Amino acid sequence: MKIKYLGHACLQIEANGKFIIVDPFISGNPLAKSIDVDSLKADYLLLTHAHGDHIADVEPIAKRTGATIICNAEMSYYYDAKGFKTVGMNTGGKFSFDGISVKATIAFHSSSFPDGSYGGNPNGYVIEADGKRIYIAGDTSLTREMKLIPDTIGAPDLAILPVGDHFTMGYEDACTASNFIRCNRIVGYHFDTFPPIAIDHQKAIDHFSAHGKVLILPKIGETIEV
Ligand code: NI
Ligand code: MN
Repeated sequence: MKIKYLGHACLQIEANGKFIIVDPFISGNPLAKSIDVDSLKADYLLLTHAHGDHIADVEPIAKRTGATIICNAEMSYYYDAKGFKTVGMNTGGKFSFDGISVKATIAFHSSSFPDGSYGGNPNGYVIEADGKRIYIAGDTSLTREMKLIPDTIGAPDLAILPVGDHFTMGYEDACTASNFIRCNRIVGYHFDTFPPIAIDHQKAIDHFSAHGKVLILPKIGETIEV
């Protein structure tokens, strides 16, 4: 799998020849100016929850590409009603397509649409494809439920965890999360986009390395292979 960081909590994942965009928030992110939202390839959009900083570019991308939106049930009703192709899931469920599987994991957060309508429960996802397993935590606090991932699915080869604090866990809790999921290679996301989630990169990286782990804080546009 190839994972391209598109800023904030947005990722473009290439898996088994398909493109999956996670939580598109590009046009509203001044730090992601280098990303051309109108030329991004997408076969699927995978959404963790309904907050604006995770869905702002869903509709233009889905309209242009015809991509299927994979999300929780309530968000799927919302996008269904607008004429988009959706697959609605719920926590604990797994959906397999095109040699790829996604399992919706527990995330402790909230999930309303920008207009205030109900956005269901937030989720993270474990994605399995190309003989690899990655975990995308979504917006979440540290939670003991993360221990279920290695125990019931298997330890991820790579995990993408929020590290920005304030709205989600910060990097110290993310380091503890990496113990819970038994994964030593962590990509941090959901940092620096807004003043409350600006972090000291060196401190965060040093904290992980003091615990024998690698924290990657990707540059926008950077691709990580797993
Ligand atoms: Ni959120
Ligand atoms: Mn967020």
